[in-house]
Amino acid sequence: MIQALRGMKDIMPPESERFVYILDTAAKIARRYGYDYMETPLLEETALFKRSVGESSDIVGKEMYQFIDKGGHDVCLRPEGTAGIVRAFIQNRLDRKGGVHRFYYHGPMFRYERPQKGRLREFHQFGCESFGEGSVYEDFTIILMIKDIFDALGIGYSIKINSLGCPECMPGYRETLVTHLNDIRDGLCEDCQRRIETNPIRVLDCKNTHCQELLEHSPVIVENLCETCDSDFVRLTRMLDSHAVEYELDPKLVRGLDYYTRTAFEFVSSEIGAQSAIAGGGRYNRLVEFLGGKPTPAVGFALGIERIMELVKLPEKGREGIYLGVMEPEALDTVLKIAHKKRKSETVFVEYARRSLKAHLKAADRLGAKLCAVIGEDELKAGQIWVKDLETKEERRIAFDQFD
Ligand code: HAM
Repeated sequence: MIQALRGMKDIMPPESERFVYILDTAAKIARRYGYDYMETPLLEETALFKRSVGESSDIVGKEMYQFIDKGGHDVCLRPEGTAGIVRAFIQNRLDRKGGVHRFYYHGPMFRYERPQKGRLREFHQFGCESFGEGSVYEDFTIILMIKDIFDALGIGYSIKINSLGCPECMPGYRETLVTHLNDIRDGLCEDCQRRIETNPIRVLDCKNTHCQELLEHSPVIVENLCETCDSDFVRLTRMLDSHAVEYELDPKLVRGLDYYTRTAFEFVSSEIGAQSAIAGGGRYNRLVEFLGGKPTPAVGFALGIERIMELVKLPEKGREGIYLGVMEPEALDTVLKIAHKKRKSETVFVEYARRSLKAHLKAADRLGAKLCAVIGEDELKAGQIWVKDLETKEERRIAFDQFD
């Protein structure tokens, strides 16, 4: 039998209810913060991700579902959402319009990683991207919005934040870091040794414990920020403090995508194992320009729906909807008419086959319906429908035209 590919998962009911609940909750809150929905293609030119996520990142270096299409174009399934949104923002000339533009999106992302608990090759993100607002108030507001989403979903988390500097302070810091890393080079793992050349700050978040011990006294970015980056970061932490938002300063939080400048953050859960990041994001002030648009500051985040599904409990749901059944085949036409009318406002389950009353009641109960309504021989003659409320157990007969 043909199976789903490794690292790809069907999301079946009843789990799919949690999936929809997370999306609905996040979208409702994003709209309250002024975000509009944007949909972009799953397939993009490979060059888009090489330029934005970065050639030295694991995502571009090892994890892309990349192929040549029938027209000879080098394309790939999107490994993340930001790059496509930025491309669409520029292609639709919104960078020329000026002002602030905020978008939310969701959908599947593809990364050819080694599958494990919480790490899939096809997974789903919900994300938000805000363009045109350069002030750190927007970073703060985005963090608050993610907090609102997780609080509404009733899940626990902790927040890590860092600043990754800007083109003014980053090159100097990079040099200091490389000098230090070269001193400890021999003890570092192969990946870290390679990264000293390609992307030295990624060495900081190496998961190897031996590397982490060696890195304990490495220079950190937050102590090497320029005046503007530093004052923005201080302002951000003060705002979080004054809103009683708890967070941890993590100088080694560097994120796995190369486009970030200044604020970077992650929301993590201690309840889902090693793959603990449930959301991540930050500011990327240079990406629009880098992809050919007018310089536009931007900040955003994405959350991982499958990881959050592990944590969410659905609110208790009572019985809902109407089950309609027949004990005489001639009554089916009437039942279908009632069903069509009722479906304008309610959930309706229809059983087409003739069944005993007991069988109908059992089926209605299994489906979680509130009402079980059945037409038998007597009811058909009298122009009535027999209705039982499965919550209150109350039974009655109602004329067809009054059953609404
Ligand atoms: P990211 O940190 O790579 O950021 O992914 C965001 C979230 O997607 C993660 O925190 C995690 O919950 C989920 N995720 C990532 N990889 C997997 C996987 N293999 N399996 C399951 N879940 C996964 C981004 O993608 C950026 N585009 C976020 C962003 C938006 N930054 C600015 N704007």
